Amino acid sequence: MTAQRTFLIVLFYIYLHFSHGFTKDDFTKDDDICWDHPHASDYPECDFVKSRQRLVCFNGLKDEWRARAENVQILILCEWPKATFDSHEVLREFAFLRKLIIANSNLTRLSTAFPIKAQFLEKINVTGTKLHTFPKDAFSNLRSLRCLDLRNNALEEINVTAFNTPALKHIFLAGNPLRCTEDTAWILDPNEGSAASKVVDKDKLLCATPYDGRPLLPIVEIIATLKKECKQTVCDCELIYVVGRAGKLTQKQLIAFTSVNCSHRGLIEMPNFLPANTTTLRLTGNKIKDLTPLTINPVYKSVLDLYIDDNLVESIVRLEGSDWLDHFRLLNLRGNKLIDLPTYALENALHNGNVAGLYLGNNSWTCDCQFTPSFQDLLIRHSNLVKDINDIRCALMSDNDNSNKQIRDLTRTEICISPDEDSWLHPLDVLNIVLASLIFLVLGKLLYDYWSFKKTGKLPWIVAKIP
Ligand SMILES: *[C@@H]1O[C@H](CO)[C@@H](O)[C@H](O)[C@H]1NC(C)=O
Ligand SMILES: *[C@@H]1O[C@H](CO)[C@@H](O)[C@H](O)[C@H]1NC(C)=O
Ligand SMILES: *[C@@H]1O[C@H](CO)[C@@H](O)[C@H](O)[C@H]1NC(C)=O
Ligand SMILES: *[C@@H]1O[C@H](CO)[C@@H](O)[C@H](O)[C@H]1NC(C)=O
Ligand SMILES: *[C@@H]1O[C@H](CO)[C@@H](O)[C@H](O)[C@H]1NC(C)=O
Ligand SMILES: *[C@@H]1O[C@H](CO)[C@@H](O)[C@H](O)[C@H]1NC(C)=O
Repeated sequence: MTAQRTFLIVLFYIYLHFSHGFTKDDFTKDDDICWDHPHASDYPECDFVKSRQRLVCFNGLKDEWRARAENVQILILCEWPKATFDSHEVLREFAFLRKLIIANSNLTRLSTAFPIKAQFLEKINVTGTKLHTFPKDAFSNLRSLRCLDLRNNALEEINVTAFNTPALKHIFLAGNPLRCTEDTAWILDPNEGSAASKVVDKDKLLCATPYDGRPLLPIVEIIATLKKECKQTVCDCELIYVVGRAGKLTQKQLIAFTSVNCSHRGLIEMPNFLPANTTTLRLTGNKIKDLTPLTINPVYKSVLDLYIDDNLVESIVRLEGSDWLDHFRLLNLRGNKLIDLPTYALENALHNGNVAGLYLGNNSWTCDCQFTPSFQDLLIRHSNLVKDINDIRCALMSDNDNSNKQIRDLTRTEICISPDEDSWLHPLDVLNIVLASLIFLVLGKLLYDYWSFKKTGKLPWIVAKIP
Protein backbone atom coordinates (compact mmCIF):
# COMPACT_ATOMS: atom_id res chain seq x y z
CA MET A 1 0.00 0.00 0.00
CA THR A 2 2.63 2.51 1.10
CA ALA A 3 4.94 1.49 -1.76
CA GLN A 4 2.12 1.93 -4.22
CA ARG A 5 1.35 5.35 -2.80
CA THR A 6 4.99 6.44 -2.87
CA PHE A 7 5.16 5.29 -6.47
CA LEU A 8 2.13 7.38 -7.39
CA ILE A 9 3.53 10.44 -5.67
CA VAL A 10 6.83 10.04 -7.47
CA LEU A 11 4.97 9.66 -10.75
CA PHE A 12 3.04 12.80 -10.01
CA TYR A 13 6.19 14.79 -9.35
CA ILE A 14 7.76 13.48 -12.53
CA TYR A 15 4.66 14.58 -14.37
CA LEU A 16 4.74 17.98 -12.75
CA HIS A 17 8.38 18.42 -13.54
CA PHE A 18 7.96 17.62 -17.18
CA SER A 19 4.76 19.51 -17.69
CA HIS A 20 6.37 22.54 -16.11
CA GLY A 21 9.39 22.13 -18.32
CA PHE A 22 7.27 21.80 -21.42
CA THR A 23 5.14 24.77 -20.46
CA LYS A 24 8.12 26.93 -20.07
CA ASP A 25 9.87 25.91 -23.21
CA ASP A 26 7.70 24.55 -25.91
CA PHE A 27 4.03 24.41 -25.43
CA THR A 28 3.01 27.69 -23.85
CA LYS A 29 1.12 29.82 -26.28
CA ASP A 30 3.47 32.60 -27.31
CA ASP A 31 0.86 35.20 -26.51
CA ASP A 32 0.70 34.50 -22.84
CA ILE A 33 4.36 34.18 -21.92
CA CYS A 34 4.73 37.73 -20.68
CA TRP A 35 1.83 37.27 -18.33
CA ASP A 36 2.46 33.68 -17.20
CA HIS A 37 6.04 34.21 -16.13
CA PRO A 38 6.30 37.57 -14.51
CA HIS A 39 9.81 38.61 -13.95
CA ALA A 40 11.37 40.33 -11.03
CA SER A 41 14.92 41.30 -11.89
CA ASP A 42 16.07 44.55 -13.45
CA TYR A 43 18.48 43.23 -16.04
CA PRO A 44 17.66 41.83 -19.46
CA GLU A 45 17.13 38.11 -19.56
CA CYS A 46 16.49 36.09 -22.68
CA ASP A 47 15.51 32.55 -23.40
CA PHE A 48 15.79 30.93 -26.83
CA VAL A 49 13.76 27.90 -27.85
CA LYS A 50 15.56 26.51 -30.82
CA SER A 51 12.86 24.16 -32.02
CA ARG A 52 10.50 27.06 -32.48
CA GLN A 53 13.09 29.69 -33.26
CA ARG A 54 11.53 31.69 -30.52
CA LEU A 55 13.35 34.25 -28.42
CA VAL A 56 11.69 35.49 -25.26
CA CYS A 57 13.26 38.47 -23.51
CA PHE A 58 12.32 40.21 -20.31
CA ASN A 59 13.46 43.73 -19.48
CA GLY A 60 15.13 44.55 -22.77
CA LEU A 61 17.29 42.83 -25.30
CA LYS A 62 20.88 41.86 -24.83
CA ASP A 63 23.36 42.56 -27.59
CA GLU A 64 24.55 38.98 -27.61
CA TRP A 65 21.15 38.04 -29.01
CA ARG A 66 21.28 40.52 -31.80
CA ALA A 67 24.26 38.69 -33.17
CA ARG A 68 22.18 35.53 -33.41
CA ALA A 69 19.11 37.28 -34.74
CA GLU A 70 18.95 35.34 -37.99
CA ASN A 71 17.74 32.33 -36.07
CA VAL A 72 14.81 34.14 -34.56
CA GLN A 73 11.35 33.93 -36.14
CA ILE A 74 9.36 34.74 -33.08
CA LEU A 75 10.45 37.58 -30.84
CA ILE A 76 8.67 38.15 -27.57
CA LEU A 77 9.57 41.22 -25.52
CA CYS A 78 8.07 41.29 -22.06
CA GLU A 79 8.34 44.18 -19.62
CA TRP A 80 10.17 46.40 -22.09
CA PRO A 81 12.06 48.76 -19.77
CA LYS A 82 11.81 52.00 -21.74
CA ALA A 83 8.93 54.29 -22.62
CA THR A 84 9.81 54.24 -26.30
CA PHE A 85 10.39 51.37 -28.65
CA ASP A 86 12.62 52.21 -31.57
CA SER A 87 11.70 49.38 -33.92
CA HIS A 88 14.14 50.53 -36.54
CA GLU A 89 17.00 50.15 -34.12
CA VAL A 90 15.85 47.11 -32.15
CA LEU A 91 14.79 44.97 -35.09
CA ARG A 92 17.67 45.86 -37.39
CA GLU A 93 19.19 42.40 -37.32
CA PHE A 94 16.02 40.36 -37.12
CA ALA A 95 15.60 39.87 -40.85
CA PHE A 96 13.66 36.61 -40.59
CA LEU A 97 11.21 37.68 -37.97
CA ARG A 98 7.64 36.46 -38.55
CA LYS A 99 6.01 37.36 -35.32
CA LEU A 100 6.67 40.11 -32.80
CA ILE A 101 5.00 40.33 -29.42
CA ILE A 102 5.48 43.19 -27.00
CA ALA A 103 3.39 42.82 -23.88
CA ASN A 104 3.04 43.76 -20.27
CA SER A 105 5.13 46.89 -20.22
CA ASN A 106 5.04 50.61 -19.68
CA LEU A 107 5.92 51.39 -23.26
CA THR A 108 4.12 54.53 -24.50
CA ARG A 109 5.49 55.17 -27.96
CA LEU A 110 6.73 53.43 -31.06
CA SER A 111 9.20 56.02 -32.16
CA THR A 112 10.10 54.86 -35.66
CA ALA A 113 8.59 52.92 -38.53
CA PHE A 114 9.28 49.22 -38.70
CA PRO A 115 12.26 48.56 -40.98
CA ILE A 116 11.94 47.35 -44.55
CA LYS A 117 14.25 44.55 -43.55
CA ALA A 118 11.48 42.92 -41.55
CA GLN A 119 9.95 41.73 -44.77
CA PHE A 120 8.58 38.47 -43.38
CA LEU A 121 6.93 39.99 -40.35
CA GLU A 122 3.32 38.74 -40.44
CA LYS A 123 2.03 39.47 -37.03
CA ILE A 124 2.61 42.26 -34.56
CA ASN A 125 1.05 42.03 -31.15
CA VAL A 126 1.51 44.99 -28.82
CA THR A 127 -0.89 44.41 -25.96
CA GLY A 128 -1.14 45.37 -22.34
CA THR A 129 1.18 48.36 -22.64
CA LYS A 130 0.68 52.10 -22.30
CA LEU A 131 1.12 52.59 -26.03
CA HIS A 132 -0.30 55.99 -26.94
CA THR A 133 1.31 57.00 -30.19
CA PHE A 134 2.95 55.51 -33.21
CA PRO A 135 4.12 57.14 -36.42
CA LYS A 136 1.71 57.39 -39.35
CA ASP A 137 4.04 55.21 -41.38
CA ALA A 138 4.78 52.78 -38.56
CA PHE A 139 3.74 49.68 -40.51
CA SER A 140 3.99 50.91 -44.07
CA ASN A 141 7.24 49.03 -44.82
CA LEU A 142 5.87 45.67 -43.79
CA ARG A 143 4.81 43.89 -46.96
CA SER A 144 3.82 40.67 -45.19
CA LEU A 145 2.01 42.11 -42.20
CA ARG A 146 -1.36 40.36 -41.95
CA CYS A 147 -2.37 40.72 -38.34
CA LEU A 148 -2.00 43.68 -36.00
CA ASP A 149 -3.16 43.32 -32.43
CA LEU A 150 -3.12 46.58 -30.45
CA ARG A 151 -5.58 45.62 -27.74
CA ASN A 152 -5.47 46.94 -24.18
CA ASN A 153 -3.19 49.90 -24.73
CA ALA A 154 -3.65 53.62 -24.20
CA LEU A 155 -4.45 54.63 -27.78
CA GLU A 156 -6.79 57.62 -27.94
CA GLU A 157 -6.57 58.55 -31.55
CA ILE A 158 -5.53 56.61 -34.59
CA ASN A 159 -4.63 57.96 -37.98
CA VAL A 160 -5.92 55.28 -40.33
CA THR A 161 -3.26 55.97 -42.88
CA ALA A 162 -1.13 53.83 -40.58
CA PHE A 163 -3.19 50.78 -41.54
CA ASN A 164 -2.58 51.31 -45.21
CA THR A 165 -0.49 48.22 -45.90
CA PRO A 166 -1.77 45.89 -48.58
CA ALA A 167 -1.50 42.54 -46.80
CA LEU A 168 -3.04 43.68 -43.52
CA LYS A 169 -6.32 41.84 -42.93
CA HIS A 170 -6.97 41.73 -39.20
CA ILE A 171 -6.69 44.62 -36.77
CA PHE A 172 -7.66 44.41 -33.10
CA LEU A 173 -8.22 47.62 -31.15
CA ALA A 174 -10.47 46.80 -28.20
CA GLY A 175 -9.48 47.96 -24.74
CA ASN A 176 -8.13 51.36 -25.78
CA PRO A 177 -9.56 54.65 -24.46
CA LEU A 178 -10.52 55.78 -27.95
CA ARG A 179 -11.81 59.29 -28.35
CA CYS A 180 -15.20 59.38 -29.96
CA THR A 181 -15.04 62.37 -32.28
CA GLU A 182 -15.59 63.24 -35.89
CA ASP A 183 -12.00 62.12 -36.51
CA THR A 184 -12.97 58.56 -35.66
CA ALA A 185 -15.62 58.50 -38.40
CA TRP A 186 -13.29 56.39 -40.57
CA ILE A 187 -14.54 53.42 -38.56
CA LEU A 188 -17.92 53.79 -40.31
CA ASP A 189 -16.53 53.28 -43.80
CA PRO A 190 -18.42 50.24 -45.11
CA ASN A 191 -16.27 49.74 -48.20
CA GLU A 192 -14.40 46.51 -48.69
CA GLY A 193 -10.69 47.03 -48.18
CA SER A 194 -11.18 50.13 -46.04
CA ALA A 195 -9.31 50.37 -42.77
CA ALA A 196 -12.62 50.00 -40.98
CA SER A 197 -13.33 46.68 -42.68
CA LYS A 198 -10.10 45.26 -41.26
CA VAL A 199 -10.95 46.05 -37.67
CA VAL A 200 -12.33 42.72 -36.50
CA ASP A 201 -13.44 43.77 -33.04
CA LYS A 202 -15.33 46.92 -34.03
CA ASP A 203 -18.31 45.98 -31.90
CA LYS A 204 -16.17 45.74 -28.81
CA LEU A 205 -14.73 49.25 -29.06
CA LEU A 206 -15.78 51.72 -26.38
CA CYS A 207 -15.51 55.47 -26.07
CA ALA A 208 -13.39 57.29 -23.51
CA THR A 209 -14.51 60.52 -21.81
CA PRO A 210 -16.86 62.25 -22.20
CA TYR A 211 -18.89 59.24 -23.34
CA ASP A 212 -17.23 56.78 -20.97
CA GLY A 213 -17.92 53.19 -21.72
CA ARG A 214 -20.49 53.87 -24.43
CA PRO A 215 -20.16 51.73 -27.54
CA LEU A 216 -17.98 53.54 -30.04
CA LEU A 217 -19.73 52.64 -33.27
CA PRO A 218 -23.19 54.12 -32.60
CA ILE A 219 -21.73 57.16 -30.86
CA VAL A 220 -19.45 57.98 -33.75
CA GLU A 221 -22.39 57.46 -36.09
CA ILE A 222 -24.50 59.91 -34.11
CA ILE A 223 -21.63 62.43 -34.07
CA ALA A 224 -21.04 62.08 -37.81
CA THR A 225 -24.72 62.68 -38.54
CA LEU A 226 -24.78 65.62 -36.16
CA LYS A 227 -21.78 67.27 -37.82
CA LYS A 228 -23.37 66.80 -41.22
CA GLU A 229 -26.63 68.37 -40.11
CA CYS A 230 -24.76 71.11 -38.30
CA LYS A 231 -23.27 72.28 -41.60
CA GLN A 232 -26.78 73.37 -42.58
CA THR A 233 -26.81 75.87 -39.74
CA VAL A 234 -24.63 78.79 -38.68
CA CYS A 235 -24.17 77.22 -35.29
CA ASP A 236 -21.75 74.97 -33.37
CA CYS A 237 -23.12 71.55 -32.49
CA GLU A 238 -21.99 69.12 -29.87
CA LEU A 239 -23.20 65.77 -28.59
CA ILE A 240 -23.35 66.32 -24.85
CA TYR A 241 -24.22 62.90 -23.63
CA VAL A 242 -25.94 59.70 -24.50
CA VAL A 243 -28.05 57.46 -22.34
CA GLY A 244 -29.25 53.95 -22.98
CA ARG A 245 -32.97 53.44 -23.11
CA ALA A 246 -33.74 51.00 -20.28
CA GLY A 247 -30.01 50.65 -19.64
CA LYS A 248 -29.34 49.18 -23.08
CA LEU A 249 -26.52 50.61 -25.12
CA THR A 250 -27.20 49.18 -28.53
CA GLN A 251 -27.62 51.43 -31.51
CA LYS A 252 -31.41 51.61 -31.57
CA GLN A 253 -31.62 52.09 -27.83
CA LEU A 254 -29.57 55.26 -27.44
CA ILE A 255 -31.03 58.64 -26.63
CA ALA A 256 -28.79 61.50 -27.65
CA PHE A 257 -28.62 64.93 -25.99
CA THR A 258 -27.30 67.54 -28.36
CA SER A 259 -26.30 71.12 -27.70
CA VAL A 260 -26.46 73.71 -30.47
CA ASN A 261 -24.81 77.06 -29.94
CA CYS A 262 -26.01 79.92 -32.18
CA SER A 263 -25.00 82.71 -29.82
CA HIS A 264 -23.88 86.07 -31.20
CA ARG A 265 -24.59 85.20 -34.82
CA GLY A 266 -26.63 88.32 -35.61
CA LEU A 267 -29.80 86.26 -36.09
CA ILE A 268 -33.03 88.18 -36.43
CA GLU A 269 -35.22 85.13 -36.18
CA MET A 270 -35.03 81.67 -34.65
CA PRO A 271 -33.35 79.10 -36.93
CA ASN A 272 -35.67 77.19 -39.28
CA PHE A 273 -33.57 74.06 -39.05
CA LEU A 274 -31.85 72.34 -36.17
CA PRO A 275 -30.03 69.01 -36.04
CA ALA A 276 -32.28 66.16 -34.92
CA ASN A 277 -32.54 65.66 -31.17
CA THR A 278 -31.28 69.13 -30.26
CA THR A 279 -31.93 69.40 -26.55
CA THR A 280 -30.04 72.56 -25.67
CA LEU A 281 -30.27 75.63 -27.87
CA ARG A 282 -28.24 78.76 -27.24
CA LEU A 283 -29.40 81.92 -29.00
CA THR A 284 -27.79 84.42 -26.65
CA GLY A 285 -26.99 87.86 -28.00
CA ASN A 286 -28.96 87.91 -31.23
CA LYS A 287 -31.74 90.20 -32.41
CA ILE A 288 -34.65 87.82 -32.17
CA LYS A 289 -38.12 89.22 -31.47
CA ASP A 290 -40.46 86.39 -32.19
CA LEU A 291 -40.75 83.08 -30.34
CA THR A 292 -43.55 81.68 -32.50
CA PRO A 293 -41.29 79.02 -34.14
CA LEU A 294 -41.17 77.28 -30.75
CA THR A 295 -44.84 76.52 -31.08
CA ILE A 296 -45.11 75.66 -34.76
CA ASN A 297 -41.75 74.35 -36.01
CA PRO A 298 -41.31 70.65 -35.14
CA VAL A 299 -37.51 70.97 -34.91
CA TYR A 300 -38.04 72.67 -31.54
CA LYS A 301 -39.94 69.73 -30.12
CA SER A 302 -36.87 68.18 -28.55
CA VAL A 303 -35.45 71.47 -27.24
CA LEU A 304 -35.55 71.36 -23.46
CA ASP A 305 -33.17 74.18 -22.58
CA LEU A 306 -33.47 77.47 -24.43
CA TYR A 307 -31.08 80.35 -23.83
CA ILE A 308 -32.45 83.40 -25.61
CA ASP A 309 -31.04 86.07 -23.32
CA ASP A 310 -29.93 89.44 -24.66
CA ASN A 311 -32.36 89.48 -27.56
CA LEU A 312 -35.32 91.69 -28.50
CA VAL A 313 -38.20 89.53 -27.31
CA GLU A 314 -41.15 91.75 -26.39
CA SER A 315 -43.75 89.16 -25.56
CA ILE A 316 -44.19 85.50 -24.83
CA VAL A 317 -47.96 85.55 -25.23
CA ARG A 318 -47.57 83.35 -28.30
CA LEU A 319 -46.31 80.52 -26.12
CA GLU A 320 -49.55 80.42 -24.15
CA GLY A 321 -51.09 76.97 -24.39
CA SER A 322 -48.24 75.56 -26.47
CA ASP A 323 -46.72 72.11 -26.02
CA TRP A 324 -43.33 73.67 -25.71
CA LEU A 325 -44.31 75.70 -22.66
CA ASP A 326 -45.59 72.53 -21.04
CA HIS A 327 -42.36 70.61 -21.56
CA PHE A 328 -39.39 72.92 -21.33
CA ARG A 329 -36.74 72.50 -18.69
CA LEU A 330 -34.89 75.81 -18.81
CA LEU A 331 -35.85 79.14 -20.32
CA ASN A 332 -33.53 82.11 -20.16
CA LEU A 333 -35.15 85.40 -21.15
CA ARG A 334 -32.77 87.78 -19.42
CA GLY A 335 -32.03 91.06 -21.07
CA ASN A 336 -34.98 91.23 -23.44
CA LYS A 337 -37.73 93.79 -23.98
CA LEU A 338 -40.42 92.08 -21.94
CA ILE A 339 -42.83 94.33 -20.09
CA ASP A 340 -45.28 91.69 -18.96
CA LEU A 341 -46.18 88.06 -19.52
CA PRO A 342 -49.19 85.77 -19.27
CA THR A 343 -48.84 84.88 -15.60
CA TYR A 344 -51.58 82.29 -15.63
CA ALA A 345 -50.03 80.30 -18.49
CA LEU A 346 -46.59 80.50 -16.93
CA GLU A 347 -47.95 79.41 -13.57
CA ASN A 348 -49.32 76.26 -15.22
CA ALA A 349 -46.02 75.63 -16.94
CA LEU A 350 -44.07 75.91 -13.70
CA HIS A 351 -46.32 73.27 -12.23
CA ASN A 352 -45.41 70.76 -14.95
CA GLY A 353 -42.55 69.40 -12.89
CA ASN A 354 -39.95 69.52 -15.69
CA VAL A 355 -38.90 73.09 -15.14
CA ALA A 356 -35.52 73.47 -13.53
CA GLY A 357 -34.76 77.10 -14.24
CA LEU A 358 -36.34 80.32 -15.42
CA TYR A 359 -34.46 83.58 -15.95
CA LEU A 360 -36.41 86.80 -16.36
CA GLY A 361 -34.05 89.47 -15.05
CA ASN A 362 -32.93 92.63 -16.76
CA ASN A 363 -36.22 93.28 -18.56
CA SER A 364 -38.37 96.41 -18.34
CA TRP A 365 -41.18 94.97 -16.26
CA THR A 366 -44.38 96.94 -15.86
CA CYS A 367 -45.22 97.78 -12.28
CA ASP A 368 -48.91 98.42 -12.05
CA CYS A 369 -51.86 97.23 -10.05
CA GLN A 370 -53.17 95.10 -12.86
CA PHE A 371 -50.14 92.96 -13.81
CA THR A 372 -47.69 93.13 -10.93
CA PRO A 373 -49.57 91.52 -8.03
CA SER A 374 -50.06 88.20 -9.83
CA PHE A 375 -46.53 88.36 -11.27
CA GLN A 376 -45.14 88.99 -7.81
CA ASP A 377 -47.12 86.05 -6.42
CA LEU A 378 -45.69 83.82 -9.13
CA LEU A 379 -42.13 84.91 -8.46
CA ILE A 380 -42.42 84.34 -4.75
CA ARG A 381 -44.20 81.00 -5.08
CA HIS A 382 -41.54 79.70 -7.48
CA SER A 383 -38.51 81.49 -6.11
CA ASN A 384 -36.55 78.21 -6.27
CA LEU A 385 -37.05 78.03 -10.05
CA VAL A 386 -36.68 81.72 -10.82
CA LYS A 387 -32.94 81.87 -10.68
CA ASP A 388 -32.35 85.59 -11.02
CA ILE A 389 -35.21 86.89 -8.91
CA ASN A 390 -33.06 89.77 -7.56
CA ASP A 391 -32.65 91.13 -11.07
CA ILE A 392 -36.38 91.18 -11.80
CA ARG A 393 -37.12 94.84 -11.39
CA CYS A 394 -39.60 97.47 -12.46
CA ALA A 395 -38.72 99.34 -15.60
CA LEU A 396 -36.31 102.20 -15.23
CA MET A 397 -38.39 105.37 -15.41
CA SER A 398 -37.41 108.78 -14.14
CA ASP A 399 -40.90 109.90 -13.07
CA ASN A 400 -41.87 106.72 -11.20
CA ASP A 401 -41.38 105.89 -7.53
CA ASN A 402 -41.02 102.18 -8.32
CA SER A 403 -38.40 102.65 -10.99
CA ASN A 404 -35.83 99.82 -10.89
CA LYS A 405 -37.20 98.37 -7.63
CA GLN A 406 -37.07 94.62 -7.06
CA ILE A 407 -40.52 93.32 -7.81
CA ARG A 408 -40.31 90.63 -5.15
CA ASP A 409 -40.00 93.23 -2.41
CA LEU A 410 -42.70 95.69 -3.50
CA THR A 411 -45.63 96.17 -1.12
CA ARG A 412 -49.21 96.15 -2.38
CA THR A 413 -49.50 99.88 -1.57
CA GLU A 414 -46.41 100.71 -3.56
CA ILE A 415 -47.82 98.78 -6.48
CA CYS A 416 -51.41 99.97 -6.39
CA ILE A 417 -51.26 103.63 -5.34
CA SER A 418 -49.56 105.76 -7.82
CA PRO A 419 -49.53 109.59 -7.80
CA ASP A 420 -52.24 109.86 -10.49
CA GLU A 421 -54.67 107.83 -8.43
CA ASP A 422 -54.43 110.32 -5.48
CA SER A 423 -55.85 113.07 -7.63
CA TRP A 424 -59.37 114.47 -7.04
CA LEU A 425 -60.12 114.12 -10.62
CA HIS A 426 -60.15 110.35 -10.69
CA PRO A 427 -63.61 109.47 -12.09
CA LEU A 428 -64.33 106.75 -9.56
CA ASP A 429 -63.50 109.10 -6.69
CA VAL A 430 -65.75 111.76 -8.17
CA LEU A 431 -68.57 109.23 -8.43
CA ASN A 432 -68.02 108.16 -4.81
CA ILE A 433 -68.22 111.73 -3.59
CA VAL A 434 -71.36 112.36 -5.57
CA LEU A 435 -72.99 109.22 -4.18
CA ALA A 436 -71.98 110.07 -0.59
CA SER A 437 -73.42 113.59 -0.99
CA LEU A 438 -76.66 112.15 -2.28
CA ILE A 439 -76.92 109.84 0.74
CA PHE A 440 -76.48 112.81 3.09
CA LEU A 441 -79.05 114.75 1.10
CA VAL A 442 -81.64 111.95 1.38
CA LEU A 443 -80.99 111.47 5.12
CA GLY A 444 -81.22 115.25 5.66
CA LYS A 445 -84.50 115.42 3.81
CA LEU A 446 -85.84 112.51 5.89
CA LEU A 447 -84.90 114.28 9.13
CA TYR A 448 -86.39 117.57 7.92
CA ASP A 449 -89.68 115.87 6.94
CA TYR A 450 -89.87 114.12 10.31
CA TRP A 451 -89.24 117.38 12.19
CA SER A 452 -91.71 119.24 9.98
CA PHE A 453 -94.42 116.55 10.51
CA LYS A 454 -93.99 116.63 14.29
CA LYS A 455 -94.22 120.42 14.33
CA THR A 456 -96.94 121.16 11.80
CA GLY A 457 -98.66 117.75 11.29
CA LYS A 458 -98.30 118.33 7.59
CA LEU A 459 -97.28 115.35 5.53
CA PRO A 460 -94.42 115.87 3.17
CA TRP A 461 -95.36 116.93 -0.26
CA ILE A 462 -94.35 113.62 -1.83
CA VAL A 463 -96.51 111.52 0.55
CA ALA A 464 -99.48 113.68 -0.26
CA LYS A 465 -98.96 113.00 -3.96
CA ILE A 466 -98.71 109.20 -3.66
CA PRO A 467 -102.13 107.63 -3.87
C1 LIG B 1 -1.76 39.08 -28.50
O1 LIG B 1 -1.31 38.83 -27.17
C2 LIG B 1 -2.33 38.73 -26.17
C3 LIG B 1 -1.67 38.48 -24.85
O2 LIG B 1 -0.56 39.28 -24.67
C4 LIG B 1 -3.29 37.63 -26.52
O3 LIG B 1 -4.34 37.57 -25.57
C5 LIG B 1 -3.85 37.84 -27.90
O4 LIG B 1 -4.68 36.76 -28.25
C6 LIG B 1 -2.75 38.02 -28.93
N1 LIG B 1 -3.35 38.39 -30.20
C7 LIG B 1 -3.42 37.60 -31.25
C8 LIG B 1 -4.09 38.14 -32.45
O5 LIG B 1 -2.96 36.49 -31.25
C1 LIG C 1 5.08 50.03 -14.87
O1 LIG C 1 5.05 51.14 -13.98
C2 LIG C 1 4.50 50.82 -12.73
C3 LIG C 1 4.42 52.11 -11.93
O2 LIG C 1 5.52 52.93 -12.15
C4 LIG C 1 5.31 49.77 -12.02
O3 LIG C 1 4.71 49.46 -10.78
C5 LIG C 1 5.31 48.53 -12.89
O4 LIG C 1 6.14 47.55 -12.31
C6 LIG C 1 5.84 48.85 -14.28
N1 LIG C 1 5.65 47.67 -15.12
C7 LIG C 1 6.57 47.20 -15.91
C8 LIG C 1 6.24 45.98 -16.63
O5 LIG C 1 7.65 47.76 -16.02
C1 LIG D 1 -3.45 61.33 -41.08
O1 LIG D 1 -2.25 61.39 -41.79
C2 LIG D 1 -2.40 61.93 -43.10
C3 LIG D 1 -1.10 61.76 -43.83
O2 LIG D 1 -0.08 62.47 -43.23
C4 LIG D 1 -2.82 63.38 -42.98
O3 LIG D 1 -2.97 63.95 -44.26
C5 LIG D 1 -4.14 63.42 -42.25
O4 LIG D 1 -4.52 64.75 -42.03
C6 LIG D 1 -4.04 62.70 -40.90
N1 LIG D 1 -5.37 62.58 -40.36
C7 LIG D 1 -5.65 62.92 -39.10
C8 LIG D 1 -7.06 62.73 -38.67
O5 LIG D 1 -4.82 63.38 -38.32
C1 LIG E 1 -33.65 61.43 -32.51
O1 LIG E 1 -34.98 61.83 -32.69
C2 LIG E 1 -35.77 60.95 -33.44
C3 LIG E 1 -37.13 61.56 -33.58
O2 LIG E 1 -37.04 62.93 -33.76
C4 LIG E 1 -35.85 59.62 -32.72
O3 LIG E 1 -36.59 58.70 -33.50
C5 LIG E 1 -34.47 59.09 -32.53
O4 LIG E 1 -34.52 57.91 -31.76
C6 LIG E 1 -33.60 60.10 -31.83
N1 LIG E 1 -32.25 59.59 -31.83
C7 LIG E 1 -31.52 59.56 -30.74
C8 LIG E 1 -30.18 58.98 -30.89
O5 LIG E 1 -31.92 59.97 -29.66
C1 LIG F 1 -21.27 79.71 -27.84
O1 LIG F 1 -20.65 80.40 -28.90
C2 LIG F 1 -20.15 81.67 -28.50
C3 LIG F 1 -19.67 82.42 -29.76
O2 LIG F 1 -19.18 81.56 -30.70
C4 LIG F 1 -19.03 81.48 -27.49
O3 LIG F 1 -18.50 82.72 -27.09
C5 LIG F 1 -19.60 80.76 -26.29
O4 LIG F 1 -18.58 80.48 -25.35
C6 LIG F 1 -20.28 79.47 -26.70
N1 LIG F 1 -20.98 78.94 -25.54
C7 LIG F 1 -20.85 77.66 -25.13
C8 LIG F 1 -21.59 77.28 -23.91
O5 LIG F 1 -20.16 76.86 -25.73
C1 LIG G 1 -29.19 94.09 -19.36
O1 LIG G 1 -29.56 94.07 -20.72
C2 LIG G 1 -28.92 95.00 -21.54
C3 LIG G 1 -29.45 94.86 -22.93
O2 LIG G 1 -30.82 94.72 -22.93
C4 LIG G 1 -27.42 94.79 -21.48
O3 LIG G 1 -26.76 95.79 -22.23
C5 LIG G 1 -26.94 94.84 -20.06
O4 LIG G 1 -25.57 94.53 -19.99
C6 LIG G 1 -27.71 93.84 -19.22
N1 LIG G 1 -27.33 93.96 -17.84
C7 LIG G 1 -27.14 92.90 -17.05
C8 LIG G 1 -26.78 93.18 -15.63
O5 LIG G 1 -27.27 91.74 -17.44
